[in-house]
Amino acid sequence: MAPLPGIRACVFDAYGTVFDFAAAARGCTDALGAQAPALTALWRDKQLQYTWLRSMQGRYVDLWQITGDSLDYALETLGLAEPALRARLMDLYRTLAVFPEIPDMLRRLRAAGIRTAILSNGSPAMLASAVAGNHLAELLDAVISVDEVGVFKPDPRVYQHALDRLEVAATEVSFQSSNAWDAWAASAFGMRVVWCNRYAQKPERLPGRPDHEVTSLAALPALVGAG
Ligand code: LAC
Repeated sequence: MAPLPGIRACVFDAYGTVFDFAAAARGCTDALGAQAPALTALWRDKQLQYTWLRSMQGRYVDLWQITGDSLDYALETLGLAEPALRARLMDLYRTLAVFPEIPDMLRRLRAAGIRTAILSNGSPAMLASAVAGNHLAELLDAVISVDEVGVFKPDPRVYQHALDRLEVAATEVSFQSSNAWDAWAASAFGMRVVWCNRYAQKPERLPGRPDHEVTSLAALPALVGAG
């Protein structure tokens, strides 16, 4: 595969791409038992729906609020509503584990002179604690939150904001997301895109088309000429 030409910055989605959102429910399997995967799926789906619905309504609140609201919905749906369990899950969400290939991959990009950044729906506080908890601060040039724009992905203003912050052109960015809708949207916006299809999703029927599909970001440096 020919590397994407002229990439100056690699920009990463956070949840599901850099940080493993399933780790929160996995950390509570004593209480959730076999329902842990169902809770993860429903919590995540509802969280994303609330970001899109609130963006359409012009009623932004930050992702920490939405993460709590969507957890409440999921716990009640599964008959698991209980304050102590809610508190444990929210606490675990603050410091989700990083996917194992991420630190070394970021180091390789930086060694090749490519800048690295997160562009996430996460609130600044959520992102700061996940970055610090996984010792990623020194491997990232920027941690950019949609909170600076006041609307969630896939609003094009969010992708534009990353370009403005990093002072690069869209075609100089390789954007990585495991969320297919996010990958398609960044492509439609004009960025180069590597879709990290960790969850075996099907291609979206939406504007855009990722340049590459991988299942682990260990493959990224080679795809942007930093191999
Ligand atoms: C994020 C979500 C979409 O980090 O995963 O922006």
